[in-house]
Amino acid sequence: MDILVTGGAGYVGSVVTEELVKQGHRAIVFDNLSRGHRGAVSSEAQLIIGDIREVKDLEKAFSKFKIDAVMHMAADTVVEYSMINPKGCFQNNVIGGVNLLDAMIKHGVLKIIFSSSAAVYGDPQGIPIEEDHPKNPVNPYGDSKLMFEHILGWYGSAYGLKHISLRYFNAAGASELLGADHRPATLLIPNVLKVALNKKNPVSIFGYDYPTKDGTCIRDYVHIVDIARAHILALRKLEELSGRAYNLGSSDGYSVLEVIEVARSVTKVEIPVKICSRRAGDPAAIVASSSRAKAELGWKPEFTEIETIIDSAWRWMKNHPNGYED
Ligand code: UFG
Repeated sequence: MDILVTGGAGYVGSVVTEELVKQGHRAIVFDNLSRGHRGAVSSEAQLIIGDIREVKDLEKAFSKFKIDAVMHMAADTVVEYSMINPKGCFQNNVIGGVNLLDAMIKHGVLKIIFSSSAAVYGDPQGIPIEEDHPKNPVNPYGDSKLMFEHILGWYGSAYGLKHISLRYFNAAGASELLGADHRPATLLIPNVLKVALNKKNPVSIFGYDYPTKDGTCIRDYVHIVDIARAHILALRKLEELSGRAYNLGSSDGYSVLEVIEVARSVTKVEIPVKICSRRAGDPAAIVASSSRAKAELGWKPEFTEIETIIDSAWRWMKNHPNGYED
């Protein structure tokens, strides 16, 4: 199939593109390169530099290429920034998303796999979280993803749009060629590994007083290659499962301190830490139940161990100490 991947130069999008190409699809990457990298786009994919907030950019892409389906990853993804700049987050994640859907409808493209997030749940009432758990986002980012899930539902009933939302928990790790290169870096695992690589500043631990086993936040880290493969499975079953949402996680929770401990053992570096105050918008603990994705999509995550996930990120970082060259 010919697939438009919005945000296909980003961390998850580039790996989705890589998997699509590997599995024989044609990938057309649509990315404004604000946070993504040209060097992350597979040489076998077509790159269109464009912005989902610009209707004319989308129009150009949909007029130029035959597109069978869209995988929508273009978004502001940093929880922390969404707290201080909700406007940017909603403009990208909601208004940009609606622009995309309108271009799709106009051009008769009625299939979309949406990159949603665990952030739709907010502070859960209990873990592991199932898909029908109440949704009370605690940051604009999570709210923007939830809003867009609802918008997909309404576009489905009005225009016949087929859609599946994949709620990623904490995307982590690297493929052989592609890894995390956010500038500035905000994610825990890359930050910890950067400290191991540069042996300079300590890792900041944001909050030591959460109601968790060791006082630090608990997250469910899931390998980006497994996330990417779930998109292709979802696309295959889109007709049958349209309207469904799926958690993508490993079903294991690790605290910030535990992640640092595993990183110490993988890197063999004594990683120094400093305790800082809580980061705004962080829920204390989120862990997925991914049984629905396994049962309905046939999703079989391959890289389930936190050691393997961190090791893949470490190998990528050692090979790309300065990230992508662009
Ligand atoms: N953390 C630190 N130090 C750091 C970076 C992070 O202590 O240097 C902590 C955070 O406070 C949080 C945990 O590590 O408790 C994980 O933080 P990340 O920034 O790695 O990830 P988030 O959980 O904030 O968010 C990520 C994605 C979101 C997604 C969410 C789903 O960025 O897009 O996972 O769980 F919604």
